[in-house]
Amino acid sequence: MNPLSRFLVLFFLFIFTAESADPAFSSCNGDSITESANIDNLLDKLVSGTIQNGFIATSYGEGKDQIFGLAQCRGDVSKKNCSSCIQDAATNIRKLCSNQADARIWYDYCFLRYDNVKFFRQVDTSGAYLINVQNVTDPDVFNKKLANLMNQISSEAVKPASKGLGKGTSDISSSLTLYGLVQCTRDLSHRNCAQCLAIAIGNFPNFCANSRGCRVLYSSCYVRYELYPFFFPLEAQESLDHSSGNYKSVKT
Ligand SMILES: *[C@@H]1O[C@H](CO)[C@@H](O)[C@H](O)[C@H]1NC(C)=O
Ligand SMILES: *[C@@H]1O[C@H](CO)[C@@H](O)[C@H](O)[C@H]1NC(C)=O
Repeated sequence: MNPLSRFLVLFFLFIFTAESADPAFSSCNGDSITESANIDNLLDKLVSGTIQNGFIATSYGEGKDQIFGLAQCRGDVSKKNCSSCIQDAATNIRKLCSNQADARIWYDYCFLRYDNVKFFRQVDTSGAYLINVQNVTDPDVFNKKLANLMNQISSEAVKPASKGLGKGTSDISSSLTLYGLVQCTRDLSHRNCAQCLAIAIGNFPNFCANSRGCRVLYSSCYVRYELYPFFFPLEAQESLDHSSGNYKSVKT
């Protein structure tokens, strides 16, 4: 291969691997939408609204061709990370779900969903759990601290100024810190947000028992805890850890 074509191959490899990240989870249901241009137009609105405001719930089209969409970034994520996440989400949901009417895609930094039925303001717990297959060594202490932290950040999330976000840490031992974050979709009332989080956390024993880390990807709320930093802002000595353990996913 001559140097120019080698360069081109590497260049395109780089573009295509850097282009769009894999989602954490996705689901597609329902009939095919005939007016598929409406999906593209809706996705444009969802992307620009999310980049501007971190959240949007809107619709596109009229009558039986109307499609409803919601998109949101996690409240702690920068504008730049939000923008690239929601653009990946819009690109990939179109590939993964083709023209299906009910489509949802979850990333760590953002969530996007559309449907030909209006779904705003309702608690929807369909989605998945992503569970670290490694267990903690001292479940009794860990589970107490985890329950306290989840309580604390859930009550933070339902305060009006929080926009559905709660996050915090708890020291498990002198060398081990627990990190927790909850995020409701911003269309929910505070009461519905509290309900979604309570269901997600209440199901910890069924899905996440004794696990070192767990993520709840519901359609109305996101809950995550880990023994390493994963949310922003990072403390001076912290860095994001993208390689911590193996996860299995369980659909809800
Ligand atoms: C998020 O933004 C930070 C700082 O701009 C960057 O270093 C990091 O790679 C971004 N993460 C993702 C997943 O885009
Ligand atoms: C972790 O704990 C769960 C629940 O107690 C148990 O079912 C599972 O087998 C454990 N996994 C490992 C790898 O020890």
